[in-house]
Amino acid sequence: MTAATLPNNALIGGYLASAVCFIVALKALSSPRRARWGNLIGVGGMVIAIALTIVDQHAGPDGIIPIGMVVGAAIAVPTARLIRMTAMPQLVAIFNGVGGGAAALVSSVEFLHVQPAHPGGLHVLEMAFGVVIGGLSFGGSLVAFAKLQELLTGRPITFPGQRNLHAVAAVGIVGVGAWTVASPHLAGLVILAALALALGAGFCLPVGGADTPVLISLLNSLTGLAVAADGFALDNLILVVAGTLVGTSGALLTKMMSDAMGRSLPNIVLGGLPSAGSTEVVGGAAAAGGVRSADATDVGTLLAYSSRVLILPGYGLAVAQAQHTLVELVAALEARGVEVSYAIHPVAGRMPGHMNVLLAEANVPYESLDDLETANAKFSSADVALVVGANDVVNPAARDDPGSPLYGMPILNADQATHVVFMKRSMRPGFSGVDNLLLYDPRTVLLFGDAKDSLTKLVAAVKAA
Ligand code: TAP
Repeated sequence: MTAATLPNNALIGGYLASAVCFIVALKALSSPRRARWGNLIGVGGMVIAIALTIVDQHAGPDGIIPIGMVVGAAIAVPTARLIRMTAMPQLVAIFNGVGGGAAALVSSVEFLHVQPAHPGGLHVLEMAFGVVIGGLSFGGSLVAFAKLQELLTGRPITFPGQRNLHAVAAVGIVGVGAWTVASPHLAGLVILAALALALGAGFCLPVGGADTPVLISLLNSLTGLAVAADGFALDNLILVVAGTLVGTSGALLTKMMSDAMGRSLPNIVLGGLPSAGSTEVVGGAAAAGGVRSADATDVGTLLAYSSRVLILPGYGLAVAQAQHTLVELVAALEARGVEVSYAIHPVAGRMPGHMNVLLAEANVPYESLDDLETANAKFSSADVALVVGANDVVNPAARDDPGSPLYGMPILNADQATHVVFMKRSMRPGFSGVDNLLLYDPRTVLLFGDAKDSLTKLVAAVKAA
């Protein structure tokens, strides 16, 4: 390592302050009310960490770090500002992949730097770990990005012998890793990087549809571990701390999300194949069974004369940007004495907390949003379950059909309400590509159209009823 210019105590004290900022930021980010502050505190911690590292590592004179930061910011800032909210998951996937790739590159550069001096086995192990985990995260994130961006199908991509191929790549990584640690050489590191990229991409191909959010969280956790490995390799305290925080919080989020989906992690990563006997149908082929549709006047009358209405928002509400119109509808119903509440599924939309953020934009207080358990206790006494642009999160196959790829994911039990109204534009399935038999249930009516247009018509219909 380069000799430090800062007194050691000042450096450690600064890194400690930075680490405290990261921990406080994570705590604040767990609450929607404090999330903005959490972000700012995290940025503060990052500024301290970068400034100290630049000074400590003499990075100023050749200017390579500031140049890298300017180029990165010039790409990332406009991208983050211009991206549509609904495209956020693919942005997170690609940013995460770039983080993993950067971590692998940092370990590789350190390897090139120290290799001529015959580094110790532990040091090589740290660098090899950074390359492998960073490579896995980069390869996997590229596939997750391609799936979410619809460059690849969102459905599981499988082929014969796939798992054996994964096993061969995994054994290859262990073998080549051991060889590289025993006798450090560039060829070993290059093979490790290639195997890790291939295995990362290969693991993500069979993960389909509804499981992609959990996958991204897992990849995020891997990137954290790769950064921590860089920290050990470079003997940089703040990289170890920040990487470990990302790794552990990503692992916790992965666990919470897989619990919310009613899946174990091995089942998500290894069990992407749809089973035989599934009700899975693409493009609404079950439409042969027939659906009932209604116009906005009929649905408006049904809502206006109900006692209790539960609203189930989903991805389509975000696409239509109809959150303000939805709030107008709720106000019109409440003015008539109808009891209305929002039922929020943990993975509705395309990112954790998507519906909470969307409804907060329309000033819906967090207290009026029911979580899954609270909402499910209300359906049997609800007159209408109004499904606004949701699909997978109300699909009864997740509860009732062991053959369905969605099986095991807890759902909002909309089918227990007296009437179900689906607002959507067509018979296309949701994100998972799995058809929804609730659309064909005799108690269901469909109000076809863009959610914003339909909600605007419903507001008028309720007021006129
Ligand atoms: P989906 O199952 O994706 O269903 C969305 C529905 O909205 C579709 O039926 C679509 O039908 C309709 N829609 C789209 N645009 C619309 C518009 N402008 N107006 C009216 N309807 C519109 O959504 P969901 O129920 O919220 O479930 C979320 C899914 O995404 C789950 O499978 C989840 O696992 C996955 N996912 C979640 C996350 C996180 S963390 N939340 C991240 C990535 C993926 P039409 O096309 O016929 O209109």
